[in-house]
Amino acid sequence: MSGPSGTWQHAPGFWEGDRPRIVTSRFAHADSHTLERFLATDGYAGLRRALAMPAAEVHGEVRTATVLGRGGAGFPAGTKWGLAPEGVWPKYMVVNGDESEPGTYKDRLLMERDPHQLIEGCLIACYAAGLSQCFLYVRGEMALAQERIATALNEAYAAGYVGRNILGSRFSLDIVLHWGAGAYVVGEETALIESLEGNRGMPRLKPPYFPAAIGLYGQPTIVNNVETLANLPWIMRNGASAYTAIGTATSPGTRMVAVSGHVARPGVYEIVNGTTTFRDLIYGDEFCRGIRDGNTLKAFVPGGGSAPWFTPDQLDLPFEASRVGPAGSMLGSGAVMVMDHTTDIPRAALTLTRFYAHESCGKCTPCREGGTWLERILSRVVDGRGTMEDLDQLMEVGQSICPGDFPHASSSDLGLAAVPFPYKMTTICFVGPSAFVPVHSALTLFRSEFEERVSRRTRIPVRAVAP
Ligand SMILES: Cc1cc2nc3c(=O)[nH]c(=O)nc-3n(C[C@H](O)[C@H](O)[C@H](O)COP(=O)(O)O)c2cc1C
Ligand code: SF4
Repeated sequence: MSGPSGTWQHAPGFWEGDRPRIVTSRFAHADSHTLERFLATDGYAGLRRALAMPAAEVHGEVRTATVLGRGGAGFPAGTKWGLAPEGVWPKYMVVNGDESEPGTYKDRLLMERDPHQLIEGCLIACYAAGLSQCFLYVRGEMALAQERIATALNEAYAAGYVGRNILGSRFSLDIVLHWGAGAYVVGEETALIESLEGNRGMPRLKPPYFPAAIGLYGQPTIVNNVETLANLPWIMRNGASAYTAIGTATSPGTRMVAVSGHVARPGVYEIVNGTTTFRDLIYGDEFCRGIRDGNTLKAFVPGGGSAPWFTPDQLDLPFEASRVGPAGSMLGSGAVMVMDHTTDIPRAALTLTRFYAHESCGKCTPCREGGTWLERILSRVVDGRGTMEDLDQLMEVGQSICPGDFPHASSSDLGLAAVPFPYKMTTICFVGPSAFVPVHSALTLFRSEFEERVSRRTRIPVRAVAP
């Protein structure tokens, strides 16, 4: 397993033990990124089957499979493709490979280890949804992923899988590889489109809410996540019913989860959607094998840095949006961050808040100013220079970004159940709220740690000011 540590430890094949492999089946091969290995392991067979069917049938198959988007919002891919208007030309596909949410590194592995699988997924999606060109936007820092995708694209063009009259059919498609410049906010789909157009990567005002109506160069555009598309070759080879037979009715198939932090075996795991629980993932022998050094679990972030935190009493929740949402958080981009009992909670919250404050594009005032103030106030609390008023101030600043009926920080009966999630927001995108989420979770769940920090306050001597 790559990622924060370790190596990928899975055997190839659809099933390993009692776990299916839909998107990681080739990962154990050292040459999994080559066309030779891809073709030897059913590569481009899904495309062949798709091209032998009418496009509408392929679309129907993906719709029936209910492939939930893996970029964060969990919107079904087949439904999204149907939002692009009929009879408009050209229509585009943009692949979101900008993965930068704190804790995530699953898409990077998919691009590095199996670039042909992603290319095949793009081809199937564009054929099914009637799209005329595909843009693959890869995060700037992911040099190996870019290199491997570029090589794979050259191989695929040379072998007739991409380009004109693919595999002798009437379907033609160009795929353009675009290297990002490394900004987190460009993962937001309209900012990504702005960046592709050569503009500063700032989210667009809404409405329109979906680029499917007006997207790249003003044309209908489907934006899909790397992992979402990587599922399609398997679905075309095995059929939608084989896919929906795995997981639950509302969360079928598998999903990749990147685990980081204080576990014995951090890494990326392909888990069964809907049924695998956080306890299975964190403590299971086939996954993370418990907390490091025999320590105890203090808290975990269930869905990337933007997600409200969970505590050990929520370990038995499954990876099912309909269960995690009402419990006060989200599955987001498939990243679980684990904190053991040694974690300095105010400092952990500051690390996340600092990231989002730094990544603000500055377009909306509550995010630009609010994120910075959250970071400043939290910094002085962590440094031992904060006051009790600062703790209230943090919640007040949060209110300017996420207005709502928040329990007040100084109230004694704060509980996670009282947290209204999803938040209302005064900002264009979720970066603003994301700066507040860690502060809110940490203060709500572990207020005593903040109060203790404040009570140990180092008095800074008042300097005499010359009259
Ligand atoms: C601040 C922000 C960052 C995001 N970053 C990513 C990202 O890195 N990768 C991604 O696929 N989606 C990201 N998204 C979600 C995208 O806007 C979009 O919903 C997604 O790419 C759609 O693909 P899907 O339907 O296949 O999930 C981000 C959203 C926001 C608000
Ligand atoms: S919320 Fe922040 S990152 Fe998003 S558009 Fe507004 S200023 Fe930019």
